[in-house]
This record gives sequence, C-alpha cells and structure tokens, in this order.
Amino acid sequence: MFENRSYCGELTLADEGKNVDLCGWCDCRRDLGGVAFIELRDVSGIVQVVADQSLSAAALAAADKVRSEYCLFVKGKVRKRSEGNINPNTKTGTIEVVADNIEILSESAVPPFPLEAGQNINEEVRLKYRFLDLRRPEMQETIIKRHEVMQTARNYLVKHRFHEVEIPFLNKSTPEGARDFLVPSRINKGEFYALPQSPQTFKQILMVSGFDRYFNIIKCFRDEDLRNDRQPEFTQIDMEFSFVNQNMVIECIEGLLKDIVKTVKGIEVQTPFLRMSYDEAMERFGKDAPDTRIPFELKTISDIFANSEFNVFKSTIANGGIIKALPVKDDGKLSRKMVDDYTVWVKTFRAGGLPNVRYRNGSFEGGIAKFLSDAEKSALEKTLKLEGESIVFFGCDRYQVVNDTLGNLRVKIAKDLGVIDEEKLNFLWVVDFPLLEYNYDDKRFYAKHHMFTAPAADAIPMLDNITPENVDSIKAQAYDIVLNGSEIGGGSIRINRMDLQNKMFQIIGMSEEEAYRKFSFMLDAFKFGAPPHGGLALGLDRIMMLLLKRDSIRDVIAFPKTQKGQCLMSNAP
Ligand code: AMO
Repeated sequence: MFENRSYCGELTLADEGKNVDLCGWCDCRRDLGGVAFIELRDVSGIVQVVADQSLSAAALAAADKVRSEYCLFVKGKVRKRSEGNINPNTKTGTIEVVADNIEILSESAVPPFPLEAGQNINEEVRLKYRFLDLRRPEMQETIIKRHEVMQTARNYLVKHRFHEVEIPFLNKSTPEGARDFLVPSRINKGEFYALPQSPQTFKQILMVSGFDRYFNIIKCFRDEDLRNDRQPEFTQIDMEFSFVNQNMVIECIEGLLKDIVKTVKGIEVQTPFLRMSYDEAMERFGKDAPDTRIPFELKTISDIFANSEFNVFKSTIANGGIIKALPVKDDGKLSRKMVDDYTVWVKTFRAGGLPNVRYRNGSFEGGIAKFLSDAEKSALEKTLKLEGESIVFFGCDRYQVVNDTLGNLRVKIAKDLGVIDEEKLNFLWVVDFPLLEYNYDDKRFYAKHHMFTAPAADAIPMLDNITPENVDSIKAQAYDIVLNGSEIGGGSIRINRMDLQNKMFQIIGMSEEEAYRKFSFMLDAFKFGAPPHGGLALGLDRIMMLLLKRDSIRDVIAFPKTQKGQCLMSNAP
C-alpha cells in the first residue's frame, strides 16, 4: 500500500491532476459541513487535504473521525487552489489534495500540548514528550540540518583524504580533565571501563599505525557540571593528521567550517578567519574565547595608578596584582541599580568589589572619582579614549581574577545594553595558548589543553624553570576556534618524542608509574616511529546551536539530558 507514496511537502503545481498516495499525521482539521480540511504533515512538510461530500462521501466520513496527530494514509488527486484560497505563506499553498479515500493507520491520544505552541511550552513537558516535540516542523528542520552538516563534514573530509575510523567506547580514562562515566565489567568482577571523554589517545595511535588522516563523528562522555552549552554526552567532529603543522590544520578546518556554514545558512563566510594570540585575547577581552561582536574592550592601566592614593589600587599593586579598566560608552543607560547589581554579581568571580566611575563630557563623577588625581583623570581619558557619556569599571586583583571578572562583565553588559549584532558570524582562531596553568587551590600545574600537546619550539628550554608567575609565558602549539564568543573547537600539535612526553608528565605531577599505568599502550606505541602529528575536534552540538541561533544546546539534540543529567522521556538514569 505504501509503494507509490509521495511526500506532502514536495507537491507543487507541476503535480496538478496527478493521483497521489500520502502518509503522515493530522496537523489540524477544520470542518465546514459537507467539506473537511486536514493539514497532513510528514517529514517533508505539510499539504492541505480536502474531503468533500460531493466528491467522496467515504473520504468525508473518515475525515470526520480524524483528530490531531492521528496517523493517516490518503489517496487523492492534486488540484490547483482557487485564487482566494492560495496561501503564499506555505510551500504547498498553491495546491491541495482532494481525497478519494482516507485510512486511519493509527489513532492518537489527545497530545499533552498543542504542537503549534512549540517553543513556548515548558521545556520539561517538551522533553518528557520528546517524541511529539520532535514532530514539530522547527525541531524536524533542526535535526535534519544537523544530519546535513554531518554529511557535509563527511564529504569534505573524505575529499581531503581522511578515513573514518571508529574507536572503542568501552575503554580506559582519557585525559580531558573532566570526570569519567564508568561501566562495570560483568566478566572482570570489580573492574570498570571508562567511556571516552574524547578519542584523543586512540586517534594518536591511529597516526602511529600509519592512517595519516583520521576523522570520526563521535559521541564523547564527560561527567561535569552542565550548562546551556554543555551536555554529558555530546558529539565531536574529531580529526587527526600526520605530517602536519598548525597552519595546515587551521586551513583545513576553515574549509570545513565554510562548507558547514553554507549548508546551514546558505551563505559564504570569508576565510582566512582572524587569528589572535591568547595574550591579546586576554588583554583585550579577558577571555580565551572572546565575543568580538561587542564594541567595548578591556585595557591594563596599572601604570596610571603606580602612585595611587586610593587604598584598594595601592594594595593591589603592592601585592603584585594588576589593574584593568572596562570603559563602556552607555550614553547614560546603565542605571545606579544596574551598577549595584553588577557589584554583587562579580563576587561569583572572586572579585572583592567593582570600583567604577562615571565620565561625562570631560569630567569624572561618582564612584571612586574623589580618589582620582588630575593626572590620573587625564591619563584615563586619553588611554581609554573616553568620550560622551561612559562608565568605567575597574578590576584590581590577581591577573586571572581581574580577567574573569571584567571579561564576564563585558558580555553581561553588552547583553543588557543590547549591543550585540546577532546577524554576525565572528569566527576567530585563538593561538599561542600557554602550555600549562597553575591552580592556586591545589598548588600544582595542569595541562591547559591536554598533556599530549606540544610546547612551542622556543618554550622547550624553559620547561625546567616553570613557576606560577612565568607559566603563562610558556606557550604551546595549541589553538581554539571560537564563534561569537563560544569555543566551538580546540586542538594542538602533539608531542611525538618520549623524552618530552615524560617531562610533561613530570611537570603536571604524574609519576612515571602512574603515567605508565594510565597510558602504557600509548607510550609503547610511541616507541615505534611515531610520526609528527596534530589535530582538532569540533563540538558539533555547539556549532548547530550557534548557527541555528538556539539558546540551549538541548534544542539541537534529538534526545538531550537536562541540566541534572536526566532524560525526562526515558527516566534515565
Ligand atoms: P576539547 O576538550 O577542547 O578538545 O573539546 C573539543 C570541543 O568539544 C566541545 N565540547 C562540548 N560540547 C558540549 N558539551 C560538552 N560537555 C563539551 N565539552 C567539549 C567544545 C570543544 O571545543 N581531544 C581534544 C581535541 C584535540 O586535541 O584534537 C578535545 O576533546 O566545542
């Protein structure tokens, strides 16, 4: 019965007069006495079906029994709509299908929410009834776009000589810094597998095995605190290249992203993308994944306050901290109340306070104005290029705290003032990352990307003298790709020499014995002619979320988890 099926959303005027078989769901039904209209929906779209007493009494009798979300089989003929009935807002609005016969394949209970109410429905309800939520055209388009992006990536990568190779899910821990999800082994009592946080170790081994260029569109599992752009299981477009340098990786990924944007939005983005060093990103934006659409920037101004009489600045400098400013030209829009709220909010970033001052056409008022000398005022005006009506926020603390505070405040204020151009796609490479970072809480070094990342060539001699103070100046061959202030991918050139790898383990406080226990397979492999190699992984979910302008990563995943890591549909875990 289904052999000659046509798709609802694909019928056009060219099909006028054709007999068609359609399958789908009743989106809605209208009854005009003697004539009933059913909007029939399938994966391709919606078409109007007409059941007319005068043409088929059987069709109308069946249509009378149809309710929302019933699953139907319709036999009918395509007809051009009369002038007055043409609907220019739908793809199939010039035609309709006059039913000869309507068969109810499956009835539906009354849906718990009207599908057309869509995104306005409480998300918990949508997630519990995800099977219905996914019937909504908006969700179908999203999931189909995601499918298209995966095909685009496969085509591009295959064309560039990559092979798709799967890696095991049941394995040992991977070094991406999150917690593992564990799976108990029935056969090996008391032992566990760890689900991969990424395919990192295996993809490097594939390079040792001579596969040259590998890719995989793969689920990764990380047990970490969830946010709107994080899921416990998410998908990477993961790649690794042998005989490669940073420029070659970057150029290849730019081509791939260009194709992906074309697929999703039908537009050409300009390549090459802007590249910025980590140090510049931190100085200007306080973040390693900056949103360059925001028109205001941070600036270090410790020099201006070298002899400050303001105690807070004075003690910051005496304690080796820095002072940075965030000037915001707000034309008076930021109210006293908003500024007070920001002062409380910045405590999240460990800031002790948020000194600020208003600048109005050449004069400084309020806040810390009374502590500023004339020389400091004129230096601020000049250095920060103040004009019109602005407010200047100050960060004064350790480098990291200041950047965290002002970097996040910059984004919050930009959102509050509505100054972000949502149409822009600002891709940005952040390069020259530090190799390591120092954690002041547990007083040890961690790999900034991961422990297989190669130091920059000129950083190797410095590895013997790393301190918390100089750690940021020791750079890695690591790079992130950022879109509109979100990290959508990251990668590095890897270490392929055992002596250097052992040194890295040592610096991050991993004994040889521990390293061997965790990564013996990889270290063994590296003894057998490991090629120079490097790679990168893109976060597919985040890319889809940003390109489709969804607020939550859950809206681009068919069956996502809540912020508490639960699937409300299946009740897992
Ligand atoms: P990284 O850890 O930077 O690198 O991950 C790569 C990209 O994956 C995305 N991502 C996530 N997306 C959703 N939910 C999460 N919990 C989540 N965690 C990460 C981000 C990120 O940029 N093995 C290395 C890559 C390499 O070196 O080749 C890696 O996994 O978009």
